[in-house]
Amino acid sequence: MHTKDYLSVADLSSADFQLLLSEAIDLKSEGWNNALSNRTLALVFEKPSLRTRVSFEVAMRQLGGHSIYLSPAEIGLGKRESVADVARVLSRYVNIIAARTFSQQSLEELGRYCDIPVINALSDEEHPCQALADLLTIYELKGSLKGLTLAFIGDGNNVAASLALACGLSGMNFKIASPVGYEISGIMLERAQIMAETSGAHIASLSDPRLAVQGADIVYTDTWTSMGQEAENEKRLLAFSAYQVDSALMELADRDAIFMHCLPAHRGQEVTDAVMDSPASVVMAQAENRLHIQKAVLLQLLGGAGITPSFR
Ligand code: CP
Ligand code: NVA
Repeated sequence: MHTKDYLSVADLSSADFQLLLSEAIDLKSEGWNNALSNRTLALVFEKPSLRTRVSFEVAMRQLGGHSIYLSPAEIGLGKRESVADVARVLSRYVNIIAARTFSQQSLEELGRYCDIPVINALSDEEHPCQALADLLTIYELKGSLKGLTLAFIGDGNNVAASLALACGLSGMNFKIASPVGYEISGIMLERAQIMAETSGAHIASLSDPRLAVQGADIVYTDTWTSMGQEAENEKRLLAFSAYQVDSALMELADRDAIFMHCLPAHRGQEVTDAVMDSPASVVMAQAENRLHIQKAVLLQLLGGAGITPSFR
């Protein structure tokens, strides 16, 4: 990869993206190796996690390295100690960091003060490892990416933003339908549209979920209340009530459309049981692919040029 850190899908060139996808496919069939023996990953998490934590820990183990999990209570990023000092200290012990933070700014600060690579394991703005796993899943199931249409129904959140950028990068069309006040940020939309100019993708933000899913190859949704927004939960349940992905909405998509969700899912809210458990649902394949794509990301960042060779 041509960058030290992976903090946003926008950090990737099209060549980086292609390489990560093909490496992940190879790694998925190869299984365990020792490519990262004597390498340590620190997982710095300000929020809970099942998939991200476990897939990163298993990824390091399967590549011959190891990981250290630092829970929300342990570090107190910017509270117990400044982000810059945490970055400087961890740079002396480990080879790479994956951080889940409340703000993208903390990740950028970590990256700035670390000599070692930093991976975004979810922030308020993006979830770039999830987007890569999702596109790997789509590629495996559909055989290509360019020209497909992904309809995202619901909150214009971190997951939606990374998907919009990933679609822009890979030539997939992206349509998002959100209620007023919960649209994807203008900056993210613009970034995705700029990337789409090169790839030929079409990126659009609308409000009608039925219009968005019309003929779509992929229907995607995520929670209406992200981590850190719990106080807004009641207000959000009302605002999003017309944005549930149910069987009637899926009927409007392409007949071979797949249903995707990054998980955790709130069954009965953003998605019905019937859709989650339908043959169209590929949510477990997505979850599994977190492991394979993150192995590729770890290998690329630790094997790339310009990264503190003394520790590798
Ligand atoms: N999709 C995802 O990132 O799940 P976790 O929050 O469980 O890591
Ligand atoms: N948008 C969700 C994704 C969880 C993986 C959140 O930020 O909580």
